[in-house]
Amino acid sequence: MFKKMSTTLSIILLITLILASCSPANPPAETADAAEEAAKQPKNLELTIYAGLMEDHAIMATREFEKQTGVKTNFIRMSSGETLARIRAEKDNMTASIWYGGPVDAYIAAIEDDLLVPYKSPNAANFPDKYKDSDGYWTGIYSGYLGFVLDKEWFEENNYDIPTSWDDLLKPEFKGQIATAHPGSSGTAYTMLATIIQLKGEEAGFDYLQRLNGQIRQYTKSGTAPGRMVGLKEIPIGITFLHDAIKYRKEGFKDIMISAPVEGTGYEIGGVAILRNGPDQEAARMFVDWTLTKEVQELGSVVDSFQFLTNPDAVPPEEAMELKDTKLIDYDFDWAGKNRRELVERFNDVTRTTPPTD
Ligand code: F6P
Repeated sequence: MFKKMSTTLSIILLITLILASCSPANPPAETADAAEEAAKQPKNLELTIYAGLMEDHAIMATREFEKQTGVKTNFIRMSSGETLARIRAEKDNMTASIWYGGPVDAYIAAIEDDLLVPYKSPNAANFPDKYKDSDGYWTGIYSGYLGFVLDKEWFEENNYDIPTSWDDLLKPEFKGQIATAHPGSSGTAYTMLATIIQLKGEEAGFDYLQRLNGQIRQYTKSGTAPGRMVGLKEIPIGITFLHDAIKYRKEGFKDIMISAPVEGTGYEIGGVAILRNGPDQEAARMFVDWTLTKEVQELGSVVDSFQFLTNPDAVPPEEAMELKDTKLIDYDFDWAGKNRRELVERFNDVTRTTPPTD
């Protein structure tokens, strides 16, 4: 009887020991090794990105991310307004999981429509507050200044003074000689619209934009197009982000000159954010972490992207130093983002009507 009881106790003890050694809190060595090995295996992650920065920058970044992480990555390049329209339409069935590049005004408009997922990357912990949303909906990756791109030859041949203020653009000799993107599609042009309203106030600002409309030969879809048109001598004056003009000059359009409005100009913070309902949320977080690192931010200059950088440890491109004394306005991103729809609608209204002649 005693022998039978002791055998039963031994069996119970043995089973208890086996179970304890297999419990998740205390995995046997082989199981731990297997788990570690599994974690190392590629998970076949994929990532689709809506890219707002230049095509060559997006190609370089997606290739590099794929190479370093094994995440199969592809992108579609769109201007800010196009991306905003697309993610509004795709709200419940998002194709991409990341929005990468383009001024954050449009990101702030997207937060209003609940299209972004907050994510506070540990890699942005030491970024200045102005470069990240306090709730984590977007993080800044670069910053760029708005200004004028000019064809030096045209100015010399005609003996015209170069424009150095917003009002200079209204001079009679510049009528029909200016290209800018349209604020409905382009983040660059929306920065211009919001800059003018912040500088001049709403009534005087729209009056100015209506007069400027009378000077414009062409509204383009993307914000970088006017710089390229000036380089190709299709037009002598463009309104653009100045780092893009410097890129075109460096890449061969030698007659490109730049100038910034003396009364002050607006600037962008280019962002990165995770799209709500995007199919690749894990890869998206990996991408955000990756793009905020010093090394990745510094890679931009390899493809002549000369924006200032948001990571305090990253060294800004030498080419950006030409812009370091530009006078900037105290641009209100929150206001610009939240009022985007109304301001673009009013811009459409004033530019439909004939500008006053004087
Ligand atoms: O990549 C060049 C760039 O000027 C960025 O600095 C900017 O965020 C983006 O293009 C704006 O593009 P768009 O005006 O076409 O929206």
